[in-house]
Amino acid sequence: MTQTILTGQTLSFTGSPFREGPDAAVLHHRRGAVLVEGGRIADVGDAERIRGIAPTARVIDHGERLLMAGFVDAHVHYPQTGIIASWGKRLIDWLNSYTFPEEMRFGDPDYAAEMAGVYLDLSLVNGITTACSFCTIHPESVDAYFTAAQARGMRMAGGKVMMDRNAPDGLRDTAQSGYDQSKALLDRWHGVDRLTYAVTPRFAPTSTPEQLEAAGALWAAHPDCLMQTHLSEQTEEIAWVGDLYPDAPDYLGVYERYGLTGRGALMGHSIHLTDREWAALSDSGTSVVHCPTSNTFIGSGLFNAREAARRGIPTGLATDVGGGSSFSMLRTMAAAYEVGQLGGSALHPAELLWLATCGSAHAMRMGDRIGNLAAGMEADIIALDLASTPVIAQRAARAGTLWEAIFPTIMMGDDRAVTVAMIGGKPV
Ligand code: GUN
Ligand code: ZN
Repeated sequence: MTQTILTGQTLSFTGSPFREGPDAAVLHHRRGAVLVEGGRIADVGDAERIRGIAPTARVIDHGERLLMAGFVDAHVHYPQTGIIASWGKRLIDWLNSYTFPEEMRFGDPDYAAEMAGVYLDLSLVNGITTACSFCTIHPESVDAYFTAAQARGMRMAGGKVMMDRNAPDGLRDTAQSGYDQSKALLDRWHGVDRLTYAVTPRFAPTSTPEQLEAAGALWAAHPDCLMQTHLSEQTEEIAWVGDLYPDAPDYLGVYERYGLTGRGALMGHSIHLTDREWAALSDSGTSVVHCPTSNTFIGSGLFNAREAARRGIPTGLATDVGGGSSFSMLRTMAAAYEVGQLGGSALHPAELLWLATCGSAHAMRMGDRIGNLAAGMEADIIALDLASTPVIAQRAARAGTLWEAIFPTIMMGDDRAVTVAMIGGKPV
């Protein structure tokens, strides 16, 4: 089998920095190397040692660049790529004014294919090698997404949005058709190459109880799929859920009632939670996903990453494009830092990087395959230039520690910092 050695600085996690602290959880080699074999990482460590164990391997030198796992975007809407940065609305008006009209277009397979390609290429340029995306209610939108991901060899998750009320004509399915179409797509795509199906009821307000019940039944019949939805993003939304589901104890209680919580369930946003909801998320092993640029852009509120970590709730980080205002996971980490500051707790650079890689991967039950630069993992790797612009370079030049060298790129970096993204060890 051909062996390739990538040399550069390397950054790996040996544990969670939230639990163990940044320095105990991170392994950094100033002169490091990654040995790639058959699309997987065979070893990571000191460059001299790695060269010694694979003397005939081809060597690709990344210089001073930081080699790390590709970013994992745990919540995104690829069909909203074309309406990113739409002005002036809060969630419900934003959905009705911008999102639903655009999503209407994805019944056209040609348009869906075009936008799936644009979306994946924008993600890759930003170092995102895996994502979990909502599609639209149209099966065509799911076929386009998985076809494009498969062509690029990417590990991607996603699913057909299920939505049978409170959405315009042409953008609703029914409890039965939503189930049947989701099942057919799941049968077609789940486990094919590197693809994972996610059962995807949009959120409680756009599904009838019958549809949520159908979604729960589908997930129960295919428990190795993911389940993704939205939870407690804005206060108006929460009040609406209270009106639509008067018997539920709270918003999460609606999903619990229909079997839509537990390991592999991804709750986007999860901002305004009661104590009962926090405890229920933790007890059930349900994942939450922090979408910080979206939460500031749509005016939703401040997610409490520290509380999620304290309770041991698997937590991912996400762009949430097009509610989110950037495809950059660096910009997304910067927003998470700012949200943390406003909430009274500065997240450490190691915590931010962990959320963007391992955290998201674990939230998606993929932490044994992706999200870390470690032996046995799939070789989805990025190289980061820690001096990608003049302002970042002059700041990083003063760094006395690894974290001081990385933090300017987290706060001020963008796609220019991502010099290459590799899928299965191959540059794309
Ligand atoms: N809640 C329900 N649908 C959506 C969506 O498309 N984006 C965001 N940010 N929140 C939602
Ligand atoms: Zn979303």
